[in-house]
Amino acid sequence: MKMALKYYHSMGDTSKKRFLTIKKGYHGDAFGAVSVCDHVNSRHGTYNGFLPENIFCKAPEVRFDCCEKDVRKLVEELDVKPFAEIINTHHSEVSGVVMESIVQGAGGLRMYHPYFLKRVRELCDELDILLILGEVAVGLGRTGMLFGFQHAGIVPDIVCLVKTLTAGYLTLSATVTTRKIGDQISNGPEGCFMHGQTYMANPLACAVASENLSILMEGKWKSQVKQIEAQLKNELLPLLEHPIVADVRILGAIGVVEVMKRVNVEVLQERFIKAGAWIRPFGNIIYILPPYVITSEGLTVLTEAIRSVLDFI
Ligand SMILES: Cc1ncc(COP(=O)(O)O)c(C=O)c1O
Repeated sequence: MKMALKYYHSMGDTSKKRFLTIKKGYHGDAFGAVSVCDHVNSRHGTYNGFLPENIFCKAPEVRFDCCEKDVRKLVEELDVKPFAEIINTHHSEVSGVVMESIVQGAGGLRMYHPYFLKRVRELCDELDILLILGEVAVGLGRTGMLFGFQHAGIVPDIVCLVKTLTAGYLTLSATVTTRKIGDQISNGPEGCFMHGQTYMANPLACAVASENLSILMEGKWKSQVKQIEAQLKNELLPLLEHPIVADVRILGAIGVVEVMKRVNVEVLQERFIKAGAWIRPFGNIIYILPPYVITSEGLTVLTEAIRSVLDFI
């Protein structure tokens, strides 16, 4: 968000001071991120009044795996239309659209249709607004593509990467932008992107990330994620027959079982541990994002654990 503000500022445009986002989004606990989180699902409502007032559009409705014949028409009608109305009204004050790529995580592991993201990209281009995508949870292979945004065939202006960057082993995040935006900021009055923190670019974390990215670039993740996806479909989709199960969603190495009511996390976690699994549900969502190197037997331990708790919800 700072990058987007700096970008327009470096061109002398100080009118673009707000961000547009979608409901049910989650971007973290830092104040900038909090200002574009859905106040309800992130429980950040406490900070209303202190935070900058950004602009929220309704969350996209059409799901990733929607099999309607004319799915694009449906996305236009249900998701693009309300978004276009808001972005057209506010474009002169908006520097960036901030969204999670393809999967809204803390908002309920909602997987939206990639055509919506494609249309958001087009609207941003038309109206001179940067597209900032959170790939914190889905980046680096999780959805079956290296980046979630590749499902939509687009490229964002700024992308945030975290979890898979170091395979979850060390704390490191990266905000990546295009040469054009980087150069514009660096050639602006400040001469560089002024941003720094004590532990930024920690050498150990960078070494781990660098090694991890080298391993990823060998490309095994593609077949690993494909196998995980196939196994999740085999082992989780049958759970749809259980009366407590409302929905099962699978995309790449993400498995989600949505149940009819809020679960008692404490009770369920105890049962998960007894079944040999560490799974943390929230609300009415039981989900797993296993490591790409998980064995088939290991994955079955997780899916069996989920199946075994359904009778106790
Ligand atoms: C999509 C998304 N964005 C941002 C974050 C927060 O990242 P961080 O803890 O690095 O601030 C999370 C954390 O789960 C997330 O899922």
